[in-house]
Amino acid sequence: MKSRQQFSLQKNNSFAVYATTPIIYYPNSEQDLQLLAAVTSEPFYILGAGSNTLFVEGVTPVIIKPEFLGIHVNETEEYYQVNAACGENWHDLVCFCIDKGINGLENLALIPGSVGAAPVQNIGAYGVEIADFIESVTWFYFAKNKSQQLTQAQCQFDYRDSIFKNALKNKGIITDITLRFPKNWQPKLNYQGLNTLPKNSHARVIMDTVIAIRNAKLPDPKVIPNAGSFFKNPVVSAEQFLLLKSNHPEIAAYQQDNGTVKLAAGWLIERAGLKGYQLNGAAVHNKQALVLTNIDSACGADIKNLALHVQQTVLALFAIMLQPEVRMLGEQGEVTLGAIN
Ligand code: EPU
Repeated sequence: MKSRQQFSLQKNNSFAVYATTPIIYYPNSEQDLQLLAAVTSEPFYILGAGSNTLFVEGVTPVIIKPEFLGIHVNETEEYYQVNAACGENWHDLVCFCIDKGINGLENLALIPGSVGAAPVQNIGAYGVEIADFIESVTWFYFAKNKSQQLTQAQCQFDYRDSIFKNALKNKGIITDITLRFPKNWQPKLNYQGLNTLPKNSHARVIMDTVIAIRNAKLPDPKVIPNAGSFFKNPVVSAEQFLLLKSNHPEIAAYQQDNGTVKLAAGWLIERAGLKGYQLNGAAVHNKQALVLTNIDSACGADIKNLALHVQQTVLALFAIMLQPEVRMLGEQGEVTLGAIN
């Protein structure tokens, strides 16, 4: 199996911060993973494309970066079934499907990252989540030293959440996913920006529109290093929302099925006066306040300190504690915001 020692990860994270790992492994077969089981008794971190991870110290633990490749399509009368390996690029998979006339992923175009990372945080955009299409996930379980299939229900998907961030965290690796796309596809055009498209729009037109919206609002990580939304949109109780709304009548909010209300974290951050705010080479993006960027050679701690400042300012103003969506990695493993200095 390919591996590298004392390896710089600066090109392996979309914040482009400096960090070195003592060793990085690139498994691409089940046999490779069986060899790695021994490594997993020490701190380690599974890295996809590095588009949702912030290295907060100059050093990381052992890194495992799976490189399984391959996409296969099955077809029945009613649906397409697409199996994709974890090392494939997510946006390439979206394009592959649309090119083949397999519709469904168009709203999820241009999300940076790998296929294997997509179910971990249940990637979502413009009213669609990957959970809507997951039929099963192949999971290599380190303790059992073999693979097993998890059904959609077993993955326990929620908003930017899944079993892979909770009970199964660091217990194994997603090696491939199987997605199911019913042939009686219906476009999802409810989200602002898509709701002006004709009801019978082709999936490719929707995909191109999503790409245009993202390009207009979200910084290209290759130009301005970032990891998309840094925080999750917070969910509050109906009572808390009424209180907030009485003080801020124009607050951006989305009613949830269970009576709670999801707030737009970007709105809270902008209202806190932090849009465009800069701290030691790190900045709150000036077109989308939910995105933190590395504008001038920031290190991981600089970006973490900016995130802390945002979190504390929003807390003081709205009594809401924003929770990071981005995962933060220190030398000994994952850390929470504020846990290290
Ligand atoms: N808003 C502001 N100021 C800002 C940003 C947003 O007032 O600086 C307001 C907007 O006016 C709008 C609302 O907040 O009313 C929502 O904004 P937007 O449509 O840009 O979406 P978001 O809630 O900020 C979420 C996802 C994005 C996804 C978009 C589109 C999360 C954490 N983020 O952002 O996902 O692309 O919706 O569906 O759920 C990501 O996860 O990395 C990501 C980019």
